[in-house]
Amino acid sequence: SAPLRVALLGCGTVGSAVLRLLDEQAGDITARVGRPVEVAGVAVRRPDRHPGVPAGLLTTDAHALVTRDDVDLVVEVIGGIDPARELMLAAFAAGKSVVSANKALLADDGVALHAAAAEAGVDLYYEAAVAGAIPLLRPLRESLAGDQLTRVVGIVNGTTNYILSRMAETGAGFAEALAEATELGYAEADPTADVDGFDAAAKAAILASLAFHTPVTAADVHREGIAAVSATDVARAAEIGCTVKLLAICEKVERGGRGGEGGEGHGASVAVRVHPAMIPTSHPLASVGGAFNAVFVEAEAAGQLMFYGQGAGGEPTASAVLGDLVAVARNRVAGVAGPGTTAYAGLPVAPMADT
Ligand code: HSE
Repeated sequence: SAPLRVALLGCGTVGSAVLRLLDEQAGDITARVGRPVEVAGVAVRRPDRHPGVPAGLLTTDAHALVTRDDVDLVVEVIGGIDPARELMLAAFAAGKSVVSANKALLADDGVALHAAAAEAGVDLYYEAAVAGAIPLLRPLRESLAGDQLTRVVGIVNGTTNYILSRMAETGAGFAEALAEATELGYAEADPTADVDGFDAAAKAAILASLAFHTPVTAADVHREGIAAVSATDVARAAEIGCTVKLLAICEKVERGGRGGEGGEGHGASVAVRVHPAMIPTSHPLASVGGAFNAVFVEAEAAGQLMFYGQGAGGEPTASAVLGDLVAVARNRVAGVAGPGTTAYAGLPVAPMADT
């Protein structure tokens, strides 16, 4: 049967892994989807920098690619707000489903993007935007859709977890551990987004939106990074049986701070924050070392759940992108669209002073 054709926007670490895995697993993916899935084109800024991609697939005109008649599905792995936002809206308007890894964009404008996808009757999936390979967003959005979530607490930034883990292991200060992380490739040349908590705040906003069915943006998240965490802080924490982690904490709270007491949800709001925290070494999140990510979920019926795995890197992130690609391709074959936004509860987001 006729192939489903994919436009790939961006071909960096994640995009090139998506291309390679899509090629290597073409037979299995065809079997799982029911139709072949093939690449129609790859939009990049500098075609000369992608010698591994067939020249006939490369283009610098991303807009023309996403709106082409022979494209069915779009994979957006360029990141950032512009031009990703405009390209995604153009794709929806042209009737294409989108798979994205773009946490900044989804955390900034998720509601409008979901609305545009719903209006077009197409899918927007973005499992790779939070915690790389770890299946987390679809479990929150789908598997737990019949439960009431009360708390989501995660280590969702690998760079800072590596730095804090090394500080605990070696007694190093923040600057020394950051230098080591940079040298080994765990931190980017400009580590600001990771170290100051912006990356984790965007991910926290997405997690909170899905967990509590309410729109939360990165700007709603109280944010504090790890640059002020000292070797002394880490040592003192160890003395009292604790470890320091950068946590993203998403909670449903009763206004006035009485969590859940007799309010039956009336007056509930959502509070979301990212900051370094001491957690007992007996807590499951305490043993999450290196650059790994983990997210601990508490739900009324399900109880406690823990999701753990690789939160970054080309292949782990590509795994999540390809999982979404198979899902949207199956939906396309079936002629349906998957779950849209779950931002219908409309709970207020607690002012930061209350958190
Ligand atoms: N810089 C991010 C991290 C990459 O360290 O977790 C994955 O989003």
